[in-house]
Amino acid sequence: MYLLGHLLLRCICLSLLIFHFSDARASYYISTPSIIYSGINTTLCVHWFGSSYSEINVTAGILHQDVTVAQATQVFQNDSIGIMSIPATPLDSSDYGYFLFVNGSAGNESIFSNIFDLTIKQIQTNTFIETDKKNYRPQETVKIRIITVYNDLTPYKGPINIYITV
Ligand SMILES: *[C@@H]1O[C@H](CO)[C@@H](O)[C@H](O)[C@H]1NC(C)=O
Ligand SMILES: *[C@@H]1O[C@H](CO)[C@@H](O)[C@H](O)[C@H]1NC(C)=O
Ligand SMILES: *[C@@H]1O[C@H](CO)[C@@H](O)[C@H](O)[C@H]1NC(C)=O
Ligand SMILES: *[C@@H]1O[C@H](CO)[C@@H](O)[C@H](O)[C@H]1NC(C)=O
Ligand SMILES: *[C@@H]1O[C@H](CO)[C@@H](O)[C@H](O)[C@H]1NC(C)=O
Repeated sequence: MYLLGHLLLRCICLSLLIFHFSDARASYYISTPSIIYSGINTTLCVHWFGSSYSEINVTAGILHQDVTVAQATQVFQNDSIGIMSIPATPLDSSDYGYFLFVNGSAGNESIFSNIFDLTIKQIQTNTFIETDKKNYRPQETVKIRIITVYNDLTPYKGPINIYITV
């Protein structure tokens, strides 16, 4: 119950775009962000509750000018909420012409497919740099601590360039 609540909460947080489809064969909800950040994974939430299949494969990906730049596939069980992560797009992604697709299938049968516009933004990070002392003697080792965080203060784990001049 806690897990479901937790997933639901995460889904609600992400529900900038929600798709819902329902007929005699299949029902699903998909929540995705409408803005994604280059360099970090995109998270989708899928709730599948179909009458015909006990599980389906969901493939989601990011297209740029008809080329798939990131893609992931995950199995979703009937009547369960799951979160899937699409790998990050390159850091130098240009900022227009992106689409997110989400396809569901069971065996050879396509159950649903959606495609929609995406806005892509560069990640915003802050870097804090600190040295262990104010003044140093010749030959003394300088210890430097560098911490990079996103705007929401969660740690950034990707590469950054640091230039040191003496
Ligand atoms: C899927 O789950 C729904 C609701 O729990 C149930 O009514 C249905 O029979 C299930 N379908 C399959 C194929 O397991
Ligand atoms: C991003 O996704 C990849 C593969 O999809 C995974 O290996 C990696 O752990 C994810 N990174 C984060 C920060 O969630
Ligand atoms: C997703 O579905 C669309 C429409 O059916 C199809 O054109 C596209 O090739 C599918 N993509 C993948 C990766 O299955
Ligand atoms: C999901 O995809 C895997 C790998 O392609 C396949 O073996 C499996 O049968 C698929 N499951 C369903 C429910 O389509
Ligand atoms: C799925 O497609 C493969 C290859 O196209 C085919 O051999 C197989 O019979 C199909 N399965 C079903 C259940 O239609």
